[in-house]
Amino acid sequence: MDADEREAAKRRAGESAAASVEDGMVVGLGTGSTAAQAIRALGRRVDVGLDIRGIPTSFRARKLAREAGIPLTSLDEATPDVAIDGADQVAGGDLVKGGGAAHAREKVVDAAADRFLVVVDPTKEVETLDCAVPVEVLPDARTTVAAAVRDQGGEPTLRAAQRKDGPVVTDNGNLVLDCDFGTIPNPGRRSADIAAVPGVVEHGLFVGLADEIHVGRRSGAEVRDV
Ligand code: A5P
Repeated sequence: MDADEREAAKRRAGESAAASVEDGMVVGLGTGSTAAQAIRALGRRVDVGLDIRGIPTSFRARKLAREAGIPLTSLDEATPDVAIDGADQVAGGDLVKGGGAAHAREKVVDAAADRFLVVVDPTKEVETLDCAVPVEVLPDARTTVAAAVRDQGGEPTLRAAQRKDGPVVTDNGNLVLDCDFGTIPNPGRRSADIAAVPGVVEHGLFVGLADEIHVGRRSGAEVRDV
């Protein structure tokens, strides 16, 4: 799949999930390039009268939603009827997220929603999860968490910023360790083990949270219930 085909697939996935949003709904707005397609598609529907409120999962999602004209609210004011978010890998209904370091807020919003729709292009689908798991950590805990991850058989790498010397700092002021465990045959157990380490704010394994996977194709999208 070349870059243009992949972009088209992301758009189809985003549009497919956005099409299932109804008048009056509160919508969790995910982060990343595929969720951005859903936010733009929702913005186009708002332009022609759709009445919704969005709860963004990141600084970036908030900016996109404002540009798209989607009225915003917060978890203090409302519970999302539906959340739409991307993923870095999908195996069945389990996900790895956090490529954009937004997984902590994403998990809070996606888990709070009555329905969580995942939007991906076909390159994200795998038999068994095997990409590095992003782990958001308190800055002071980066060394102790890294040691605990090694004890659990993982290889942690502090995520470096692209256009800044030093590490990525999340929207919450924390750091990210990308933790390579190889294949993850039991995501539930891995999730619990990482979450139990003191200093871990949130990790990118989303186990049993998704309700529908919208996979964009060259024409249209395939929707899978999970
Ligand atoms: C943000 O932190 C992530 O969880 C994204 O949702 C994930 O990385 C997918 O992003 P793309 O749709 O850009 O691949």
